[in-house]
Amino acid sequence: MTEPQNPKKLFIKTYGCQMNVYDSERMAEAMGADGYVMTETAEDADMVLLNTCHIREKASEKLYSDLGRLRPLKAANPDLKIGVAGCVAQAEGAEILRRMPLVDLVVGPQAYHRLPEMARGTGQQVDTDFPLEDKFDLLPERKATRGPTAFLTVQEGCDKFCAFCVVPYTRGAEVSRPVARILTEARGLVAKGVREITLLGQNVNGYHGVGDGGGWTLARLLRELAKVDGLERLRYTTSHPNDMDDDLVAAHGDLPQLMPYLHLPVQSGSDRILKAMNRKHTAQDYLRLIERIRAARPDIVLSSDFIVGFPGETDRDFEDTLDLIRAVGFGAAFSFKYSARPGTPAAEKPPVAAELADSRLAALQALITAQQKATQESMVGREVSVLYEKPGRMPGQMVGKSDHLHAVHVNDPTGQVGELVRVRILASTSNSLAGARI
Ligand code: SAH
Ligand code: SF4
Ligand code: F3S
Repeated sequence: MTEPQNPKKLFIKTYGCQMNVYDSERMAEAMGADGYVMTETAEDADMVLLNTCHIREKASEKLYSDLGRLRPLKAANPDLKIGVAGCVAQAEGAEILRRMPLVDLVVGPQAYHRLPEMARGTGQQVDTDFPLEDKFDLLPERKATRGPTAFLTVQEGCDKFCAFCVVPYTRGAEVSRPVARILTEARGLVAKGVREITLLGQNVNGYHGVGDGGGWTLARLLRELAKVDGLERLRYTTSHPNDMDDDLVAAHGDLPQLMPYLHLPVQSGSDRILKAMNRKHTAQDYLRLIERIRAARPDIVLSSDFIVGFPGETDRDFEDTLDLIRAVGFGAAFSFKYSARPGTPAAEKPPVAAELADSRLAALQALITAQQKATQESMVGREVSVLYEKPGRMPGQMVGKSDHLHAVHVNDPTGQVGELVRVRILASTSNSLAGARI
C-alpha cells in the first residue's frame, strides 16, 4: 500500500479519564486507516475532534470554550471538519449542533467506530446510539503509540448509579469485553514493544467477560495476562470497593506482574454521606478492605477519589473523611468539589455553600499532599524497578515509573526507552523521585 501524497490531518484533544485517552487512540487508529495522519495543532488540521468529559460542570463547559476558539479557524477554512466525541456528545447529542452550528459531527463513546464513515459524509451528523455490534470488533488493530506502556479497555459502563455521577448515563450499562479479544489485543501490543498494560474500565473490577470455562473475573483475567511472555507489568483502574473480591485481593499478593499501586475511590469517610451517595459501603467496610489488601501486599500504595461538599455534608461528615484519610495514609488522591450534574438524583438537593466546600477542599488537599510527600520520602534508600518511558530534560537522563507509579528520574546515558531497570532511590522532590541505576 502506498501512502497518499497529501494525507488529511487530524487533531484530537482529549479531556477526562484514561478511558477517553484510550478511545482517542482508537479513533486516531480508525481515522489513520482511512488516510488521516495526526497533527499537534488545530491550526493545520483538516479535522478537529474534541473527545469530551461530562463528569463535572467545568469539564463539560470546556467543550464550549474550545469550540469558541475554533470559530476563526472554521471561518478561514469552511472545509475544516469539527467533531465532538465522548461523554458530552453522549449527554447532549444534537443539542451541541443547535448551540454550536460550526460542529459537523457528534459521536458518542459507543459509536465511534463509525467516525471515518461520518467524516466522509457531508452535512451535520449525530450518532449517540448504543449499537448491538461490538465497536472493538470493527476497529483496526492497535498501534503502540505510547512506547512501552499502553491502556487496554476491558470493561465499559457502570451500573452503580452513585447519586452524583453521570457515567451510568453517558457510558451506559456495564459491558465486559470477551477474554479472547483482550488477550489478542494484549499480545499484539506486546509484539509491538509494550511491557506494561493498564486495564481500564469505569468499574474495572466488576469485569465478568465471557471466555473458555466461564466465570471470568478481573482476577482470573489478570492471572491469564500474567502468562503473556514479555508483558512485565499489569495495572488496572478504576475500581469500586464493593467489587474487590477475595481472589483479586489475593492476586495482589501472588502475581509479581501486578504492580503494588491501587486506585480505589472511597469518595467520603462519612457513612451518612456514603449512604446519600448510594455508594453501598461504609467507611468501616473500606478500612477493613484496605487491611485485607495490605495483608496480601504490604508495600502497596493506595490512592482514592474524594468529593467534598456533597449536598448535606456537615463539618462532622467532613471530619469523618479526614479521619479516614488519616487512618489509611494515601500515596496520592484526586479530590473534587461536588458539582451538580443534570439528571442525577443528588442534583435535586440543596448544595453546600461554595466557600465552605472550597475551604474543605483546601484542607483535604493539604492532608493528602502531606501523605503523598511522606509516601514518596519513604521510598528514599529503597530499591525499585523503573520502566523507562522517555528521555528526561537533562542530558543523559531517563524518566520512567516505579512499581508504585512514582515518576523517577535516573541519570543513565546509555539507558533506552522500554528498558526495565533496578534503581536505588536517592531523593524525593515535589512531584518525582531521583535514583541511580543499580
Ligand atoms: N468509575 C470511577 C470514576 C468515576 S469519575 C469510580 O467509580 O471511581 C472519577 C471521579 O470523579 C469519581 O471517583 C468522583 O470522585 C468524581 N466525580 C464524579 N461525579 C462528580 C460530581 N458530580 N462532582 C464532583 N466530582 C465527581
Ligand atoms: Fe460513577 Fe459511581 Fe459508577 Fe464510579 S461507580 S462511574 S462514581 S456511578
Ligand atoms: Fe469523563 Fe466520561 Fe470519563 S464523563 S471521566 S470522560 S467516563
